[in-house]
Amino acid sequence: MNFANIIEKKKNKQELTAQEIYWVVNSFVNNTLKDYQMSSFNMAVWFNGMTPTEIAAFTQAMMDSGITYNLDDVEGLKADKHSTGGVGDKTSLIFSPLVAKFGVKVAKLSGRGLGQTGGTIDKLESCPGWTGEISEDRFKEILKTVGISIMGQSSEVVPADKKIYALRDVTGTVDSIPLIASSIMSKKLVIPADSIILDVKMGSGAFMKDLDSAIKLSKAMITIGKEHKRNVSVMITNMDKPLGRAIGNAIEVKEAWDTLNGNGPDDLVELCVTAAGLTLVQNKVFSDLETAKKELLNVLKDKSAAHLLKDFIEAQNGDFGVILDYDKNFTTKHKIEITAQKDGYVSFASADQLGYLSMHLGAGRATKEEEIDFSAGIYLNKTTNEFVKVGEVIMTLYTNRDDIESFKQKANELIVLNENSHDEDLILKLLTNDDV
Ligand code: URA
Repeated sequence: MNFANIIEKKKNKQELTAQEIYWVVNSFVNNTLKDYQMSSFNMAVWFNGMTPTEIAAFTQAMMDSGITYNLDDVEGLKADKHSTGGVGDKTSLIFSPLVAKFGVKVAKLSGRGLGQTGGTIDKLESCPGWTGEISEDRFKEILKTVGISIMGQSSEVVPADKKIYALRDVTGTVDSIPLIASSIMSKKLVIPADSIILDVKMGSGAFMKDLDSAIKLSKAMITIGKEHKRNVSVMITNMDKPLGRAIGNAIEVKEAWDTLNGNGPDDLVELCVTAAGLTLVQNKVFSDLETAKKELLNVLKDKSAAHLLKDFIEAQNGDFGVILDYDKNFTTKHKIEITAQKDGYVSFASADQLGYLSMHLGAGRATKEEEIDFSAGIYLNKTTNEFVKVGEVIMTLYTNRDDIESFKQKANELIVLNENSHDEDLILKLLTNDDV
């Protein structure tokens, strides 16, 4: 096979065979296909798309570049969840105990944050000792005993995606529906879960800027899942505002704990019970979403799933005590209160920029090498659509860095105070296997 013929076909919108796609992916992984050739392939896909058959082959070729897990000896139903990334998104930490409470085990690979988006692994590492680097045997053991286990994504999992994504990131080819769908699903399919729930973020800060493209991406992922006999549901959710009130690492684990103890912010509760509800319907624990959500709200109220977060963190060597005594363990040199300069209904110029502010406070990484300050972050004393009076605190910034004036200025630039409230839906659309 030769690349010139393959790229010519793709350029002219002819369908590639599975063999040709495998050859491209394998040659790139083996370094016989060069970066400039793979970039040209990605750009041809960006312009001309891929047929469902091509997407299936591309996903499979990427999966085959690394290891897959076998959970046959873990009895019972297993669920997986993925979010395309959001500011303040600690959903997995609440979703997992909720689902496990009803006997469905949560087996998940998670990533680290980069830039404005947080990563579940970083958040969990704010509990000293917690590790996502566990063996497959230990992963299975924890699934059997606690019902939740989260592993960090090692370099052995879908290495082709890692290499291709790094190239896409610097060649303007991230925002391609077939490339995103195959990238996400290749990493989901290596865990043999009975159900997968995907939270596709939509809005100014997300890859998908409008509902139409979010639906196309969702359907592409459901189709890939169906080809692998997986039950995939998708929630398309609004990412124009941060989720919950806490943005950072330890502060988000604390908010997850509070939510599991019945004190969660409304938007976070709604997202978590919807995600968990859909999963429980997929696994036939409940016949419909409304009943599932009602039961899940009861579980939050009676706090009966909270211990599962603690148990799972402890099973992976984390000291959960630091969260139980949060104020003592996560102090910062500076606590900066940002107050309202007039009365009004709060909104934020950009959720994304709040994520970047949190990163600058020390809670995130601008480069892969940077260390995270687990105690840094933002607490939104008032959030979108809440009324604030002049002089009241809108947000509190926690940091050990000394650029206080620049943090204050940035925070003030992000706050918008409106005369009227304008409600936007958080959950924009739900799609299941039956919708494709
Ligand atoms: N997340 C992924 O894992 N891959 C993409 O291509 C985009 C978001």
